[in-house]
Amino acid sequence: MRIDIITCLPELFDGPMNQSIIKRSQQKGLVDIFIHDLRPYSVNKQKSIDDYAYGGGAGMVMMIEPIDRCITALKQNLSYDEIIYLTPDGEGLTQGICNQLSLNKNIILLCGHYKGVDERVREHLITRELSIGDYVLSGGELAAMVLADALIRLIPGVLNDESSALTDSFQDSLLAPPVYTRPAIYNGWDVPAILQSGNEAKINDWRYELAVKRTKERRPDLLK
Ligand code: ADE
Repeated sequence: MRIDIITCLPELFDGPMNQSIIKRSQQKGLVDIFIHDLRPYSVNKQKSIDDYAYGGGAGMVMMIEPIDRCITALKQNLSYDEIIYLTPDGEGLTQGICNQLSLNKNIILLCGHYKGVDERVREHLITRELSIGDYVLSGGELAAMVLADALIRLIPGVLNDESSALTDSFQDSLLAPPVYTRPAIYNGWDVPAILQSGNEAKINDWRYELAVKRTKERRPDLLK
């Protein structure tokens, strides 16, 4: 999978995209991530990428021209399955959407800033709009990183233990059951005996039961 990210703050991606699973997935050749600074695509002398809103009001609006030029340049070399704009008023991101998007070959993520992008970007250049939650971030960069992380771990071969992405919370509309590791007793708090029994069928039943219980208690909406 190839992910092209368009941003006016490219440095923000330096750390998170170069650590741990995301770093290894790139080293293994399973994912290519390219960060594109929007500013060089500006058409004016000041290299601006935002301007005042028509009709007045506080806050700057990201201009269509630099965004269009950047997307057009990318599309000259590749065809993209989705061009996604991260925005708080987009469709809420779910594990189901992540599963679906992880099957794509090439996607573009566009990060908004200030008051957002000129509406014509959304009408004519974008194929999908996603929000990572009902709160407003200073920009779409953190949301793009969340989305990229959630997608990359679903790509076959990225996780060492392939089954582990399938047993994540939300994969079957259930939260994941509790997990434990050594020591078996700490401070008098012990690990449930069943998990130490070696009886795989019973352990699976227990895990399913606890996953259902936890989901009922914490996220009953998932069971509907
Ligand atoms: N940009 C700002 N807030 C956001 C959010 N909640 N989701 C996606 N993009 C955003």
